[in-house]
Amino acid sequence: MARAPWLWPLLRSPTRRFFSARASGWDERTGAGGVEHLTPLAAAALRVGRAPERVLDVGCGTGEGTLFFAREFPQARVRGVDLSEEMIAAAVAKVGLDPEGRIAFKVGDAAALPHPDDSFDLVAQLNMPPFFEELVRVLRPGGYVIVVSSWGSRTPFYTRPGLLRWKFLERGVEPVEIGAAGAGTFYVGRLEGGD
Ligand SMILES: C[S@@+](CC[C@H](N)C(=O)[O-])C[C@H]1O[C@@H](n2cnc3c(N)ncnc32)[C@H](O)[C@@H]1O
Repeated sequence: MARAPWLWPLLRSPTRRFFSARASGWDERTGAGGVEHLTPLAAAALRVGRAPERVLDVGCGTGEGTLFFAREFPQARVRGVDLSEEMIAAAVAKVGLDPEGRIAFKVGDAAALPHPDDSFDLVAQLNMPPFFEELVRVLRPGGYVIVVSSWGSRTPFYTRPGLLRWKFLERGVEPVEIGAAGAGTFYVGRLEGGD
């Protein structure tokens, strides 16, 4: 998707069906929320220079990355968005349904995020193909981007660091750190502007 975003309209429905069919029992089968899953995310979060007020986890699945951010940044309002209703239902089951609460989840497509421009100061995605245009659109000037592959190049939606660096730089996002932690890899960038 990072190289050919125009294919997404063809892939959207099969992708949604694929993940919806697997939402039940996802955490147990994949280890979501476990140490291996979250280690590179924790390493990336340490590179965020300023505690964010609003965080978005794109392609949040069952919400384990979103809940990590809620623990890591206790002052932040944290949102998770995912294409699959079943994944969102599994995430909501962990925190309850409160769309205005500190932690909330909703169904939405990363290719057309259901959020206004400049609305988050940290936008993250974990084990998800990046939709660069939208990630940057919803980011405030000076805000941070995190892209994590929990199992490095073995991650099904792995995107090469060079491609992340280049595609974000084209949109005004400077790399802060590109690294590895545990079995995974991470990219942290910062959008120009802000104070
Ligand atoms: C491999 S799972 C990762 C879930 C979670 N981030 C994690 O690491 O546990 C990929 C998730 O991305 C979601 N997804 C795929 N394409 C998406 C898109 N265009 N917009 C929103 N969610 C998407 C899927 O529904 C699925 O829940």
